[in-house]
Amino acid sequence: MSKQSTFVMLLVMGLGGASLAGLATALADGHHGDPPTPITQRPLRDLAHPAGIRIGTAVDMTALAADQTYRETIEREFSSVTAENVMKWETLEPEPGVFDYQQADALVAFAGAHHMVVRGHVLVWHNQIPAWVNEQDFTPAELRDILREHIIETAHHFRGKIQQWDVLNEAFNEDGTLRDTIWLRALGPDYFADVFRWARMGDPGARLFYNDFNLEFFGPKSDAAFSAVQDLRRRGIPVDGIGFQGHLGAQFGFDTRVQENMQRFANLGLEIAVTEADVRMPLPTDVFKLQSQSQGYHSLLQPCLLTRGCNSFTVWGYTDKYSWVPGFFDGEGAACLLDESFQPKPAYAAVQHDLALAARARH
Ligand code: XIL
Repeated sequence: MSKQSTFVMLLVMGLGGASLAGLATALADGHHGDPPTPITQRPLRDLAHPAGIRIGTAVDMTALAADQTYRETIEREFSSVTAENVMKWETLEPEPGVFDYQQADALVAFAGAHHMVVRGHVLVWHNQIPAWVNEQDFTPAELRDILREHIIETAHHFRGKIQQWDVLNEAFNEDGTLRDTIWLRALGPDYFADVFRWARMGDPGARLFYNDFNLEFFGPKSDAAFSAVQDLRRRGIPVDGIGFQGHLGAQFGFDTRVQENMQRFANLGLEIAVTEADVRMPLPTDVFKLQSQSQGYHSLLQPCLLTRGCNSFTVWGYTDKYSWVPGFFDGEGAACLLDESFQPKPAYAAVQHDLALAARARH
């Protein structure tokens, strides 16, 4: 089958059962350079289970309430969910002491109803903090108390319902120095230890993660995160996992040593998760960019499947209809597995293919 006809089939096929029937047999083995040939029509979550991982997506709660296709696709395809925004501090506590858990609780209930786990996102970050925290002149000691309360209160509210918490997010600069944030300034460089201890106090059962972008490849940032978590674990601070966000761009190419990098973190005894995968591209899309995108997803998923300890792979939104990318990266988009009409792109087939192979290999 030619590249073009394979591609057209991938675009026209629906995700729904009947429209997928016969696809695997209809597609001959791909030649070198073709999009990976689907070897199954099964939904991602049905493949991820025997492959030994959770397959997740970030969830936009507005879309979940308003868009039936969006909701049903999540139910069918994913076994883990992350709140794209509604577990962030600015949503949970817009005014001091005024808590709003409504949307976050709705997501937890949705997950429970569909046998999904929840990744909690996020306890400590420098973005999406409520204005009342950012804009008042608190002393460092006051800020420490405020952060402590926030972490313990939030983790406690969701205790028993969160599989993995992103406790601390994006605390390093690209050069491996500590990011200059309100938390570094108030608590000092050893605040990592405090925030993980507090999270454990709030929810003793959740696995506690450090999460960041550009950790996938070797470099000063990944090295700094490695040293930090190694040091924390040596000191008995409860860090259980490392989250590789996985925000990639097709225009940059993809790293080939992700597995080796994951493995060094796994060797510390850490769980590994890919937490926010997406592969954006300069618009407009074309067949080459879309094929390259599928390689980007593969560059994250295959290492995860080959690394013992990597137990979760989450995409940061699964449809281009609701992706954060166009709003944050000028002229870029189309970063998700499905297009704006919920049609699978070559990347969806690539993910399916990797999961199916891993499931088969573990059998
Ligand atoms: C993004 C959301 O997708 C947007 O809707 C929001 O406006 C800003 O935050 N790293 C993270 C996520 O850890 O929380 C960010 O999510 C994307 C980058």
